[in-house]
Amino acid sequence: PPTRPLAGLRLLLTAGPTREALDPVRFLSNHSSGKMGFALAAAAARMGAEVTLVSGPVGLATPPGVTRIEVESARQMHEAVMTHLADQQIFIACAAVADYAPREVAGHKIKKTASDTLVIELTKNPDIVADVAALPEGPFTVGFAAETRDVEKYALDKLARKGLDMIAANDVAKNGQGFNSDDNALSVFWPGGRADLPLSAKSELAGHLMTLIADRYHDTH
Ligand code: PMT
Repeated sequence: PPTRPLAGLRLLLTAGPTREALDPVRFLSNHSSGKMGFALAAAAARMGAEVTLVSGPVGLATPPGVTRIEVESARQMHEAVMTHLADQQIFIACAAVADYAPREVAGHKIKKTASDTLVIELTKNPDIVADVAALPEGPFTVGFAAETRDVEKYALDKLARKGLDMIAANDVAKNGQGFNSDDNALSVFWPGGRADLPLSAKSELAGHLMTLIADRYHDTH
């Protein structure tokens, strides 16, 4: 197989967590480290793609040859993706995007009160990968599915419901893989096919997943 199967292609991807502000000093977020998405960006660049990486707040160095755009919230990530989508052939959504954000961001630090409970109202964030997949002339779109049970069932549901070309599912309830660990395992699904990528270093796994994506992209274009 060619060593640079993505030469001449532009690839946009998201990585890391989002932060949804509650007040000037607090936010809702998750345990995503960005390792999986950054490994994919590095692999895609090695395979010849021109890579743009939209990243939430993470403590990782930008891989060689990759253009990085930093965002905080899901809304900012959505806007950055939509602005940079023109002329992209492949989009990969590896970020752990918050599904909901606080309905109101307090202008000042929320004060502790005499009450033992505090209610925070949340509203739904835009679904970035679903919005990209719904574009009429959109890129080849790959989503992720982070599940704690019924991984295959939920992944196939997201593949269909979000209208994706491919989905990479991980079981984030298992120890030593998923959020923040150096290793991961993925079950990859596309219309009419599947591949299982066993537990290995995210750097190695990223190479295998990018090869699958390149093969599937070229099969359909
Ligand atoms: O960053 P690491 O520590 O290395 O961990 C890697 C990972 C576990 C975060 C990664 O492998 C992973 O599973 N990423 C997707 C996490 C996620 O939010 O999954 P989800 O099943 O909730 O979302 C499904 C898909 O929709 C994902 O492609 C997600 O990026 C996308 N999404 C979700 C919500 C939203 N508002 N917009 C989106 O684009």
